Amino acid sequence: MRRKIVAGNWKMNGSKDLVNSLVGQVRSGLASLDNGVEAVIIPPALFVGDVVRQAGDQIAVGVQNIACWDSGAYTGEISAGMAKDSGCDYSLVGHSERRQLFGETDDEVTVKVVKALASGLDAIICVGETLDQREAGKAEDVVSAQVRKAVADVGGGQWQQVVVAYEPVWAIGTGKTATAEDAQAMHGTIRGVLKSLGAPAEEISLLYGGSVKPDNAVALFAQPDIDGGLIGGASLSAEDFMSICRAMP
Ligand code: G3H
Repeated sequence: MRRKIVAGNWKMNGSKDLVNSLVGQVRSGLASLDNGVEAVIIPPALFVGDVVRQAGDQIAVGVQNIACWDSGAYTGEISAGMAKDSGCDYSLVGHSERRQLFGETDDEVTVKVVKALASGLDAIICVGETLDQREAGKAEDVVSAQVRKAVADVGGGQWQQVVVAYEPVWAIGTGKTATAEDAQAMHGTIRGVLKSLGAPAEEISLLYGGSVKPDNAVALFAQPDIDGGLIGGASLSAEDFMSICRAMP
């Protein structure tokens, strides 16, 4: 059975005060939920320890990025092993902001997926097309190629650590969301790609990201191939994040 996951990517937002107020509220909100949703908080790396200490067993914690290396003279970087050692269960890999603003390449994404899985982290692999690519009718080709490349070196026993998040770049932080039908169509395509690669595609959780809010989460999560969400802005409010968790069927 696929995991139902709602992951909150705080990006470069938040503070110790937010950790102290939000984590406890999410914890108590989850205690009264029985829909089997797995909540993940992905704060800036400096706050990981604080979130881990307050998260208890009900909330998983992740990092937003890991290095391509295990250790060494790479000032400013953190490794997958360090994230695991600090109590993380997940790492985002290949978020479009990393790709667009920091020049992260498809080759680096492949390496980071390997590093995450080898360190015992689950990798939330982010893929998605730009508006130009969608308008040119290339969205499916772009996303399919990103998925194939990202999982190129995933070993047979590692698929259960793989999660894919489809985030159309034009929907991130813009208030524009893909329709539930368009998102479902792309998720179906991604599952098809995974299947064609010999992965246990029916067991891999596929998340949708891009302006997910309490009022659109129900329709998105009702789709057969959408197993959860990767939430940006709305994850900074405990109330909104919990509403989205509650939207999971
Ligand atoms: O990682 C999260 C996504 O980039 C979505 O962000 O919900 O603010 O659009 P958003």
